[in-house]
Amino acid sequence: MQHLVDTDQFSLAQIAQIIEDANTFKLKRPPLLLRDKVIVTLFFEKSTRTRSSFEIAGKRLGAAMVLFDPSRSSTGKGETLEDTFATLCAMEPDAVIVRHSENSTPQMLADMQVTPVINAGAGNYAHPTQALLDYFTILEHFDGEPRGKTLAIVGDVVSSRVASSGIRLFMRMGLNVILVAPPQFMPELDLPKYTSLDEVLDRVDVIMSLRAQLERHEVPHFDNYEAYASQYCITEERLGSRDILVMHPGPVMRNIDISDAVLEDPRCKVLEQVKNGVYVRMAILKLLLLDA
Ligand code: CP
Repeated sequence: MQHLVDTDQFSLAQIAQIIEDANTFKLKRPPLLLRDKVIVTLFFEKSTRTRSSFEIAGKRLGAAMVLFDPSRSSTGKGETLEDTFATLCAMEPDAVIVRHSENSTPQMLADMQVTPVINAGAGNYAHPTQALLDYFTILEHFDGEPRGKTLAIVGDVVSSRVASSGIRLFMRMGLNVILVAPPQFMPELDLPKYTSLDEVLDRVDVIMSLRAQLERHEVPHFDNYEAYASQYCITEERLGSRDILVMHPGPVMRNIDISDAVLEDPRCKVLEQVKNGVYVRMAILKLLLLDA
């Protein structure tokens, strides 16, 4: 039984397989490879992209998707997470896709070893399918040769599971990662760190902008985000004519993370990331439910 808690559980050969399958699926819709499979999504946090993307990916491959809604479940009667998971697994689904606010939840459920667990985002620790779809988007942009490119992660890095998983994957795949953030948003990681975005723009190939994750802040870090945006928002004025790939995992705080104009700029691939997410998640489901 193979789980996906973070991307380091995948070998380089498996990552290459995911990329190859996602490319194939993007070119031509595949047959219903998972038509006898049942997949449960178990999201204890809000989601637009990841949950719908997994649902569409599963359906494109013919799987039946069961969407478990904690707000309408016996969680409200005090049932624990472990008992909820064990109950769902007793119905013998082929995988459970889980999102949770606690960093340790996907591993804890995986350790129960009853059903494959796929992490759809846990705390600020890991969001492996986002990292893989981001890597796929970077690979596409650089025609398969992103090694040695410099990627700046800009914004609320310390709160971000997208950043955590991305940093581990991108560095493993040979990219240079730098962090750009105000002190409040900077994690204690051994990576090049900058407070000024303007200072690094001439030497970055990719910007991954991040949302300030207000829901994870115990105290407000800024009284207003206009002052923050004046330094960290990705604007046309800031980018100039530089050939920089602009990414964001979403949801985007418009004109704080990225300006309206840049969201319309061909250098900005936010919706391409979303599109690629379906193909990459199809490839991940194939790998875990069929190949592994
Ligand atoms: N990127 C991402 O995880 O978005 P959602 O929270 O909408 O799933």
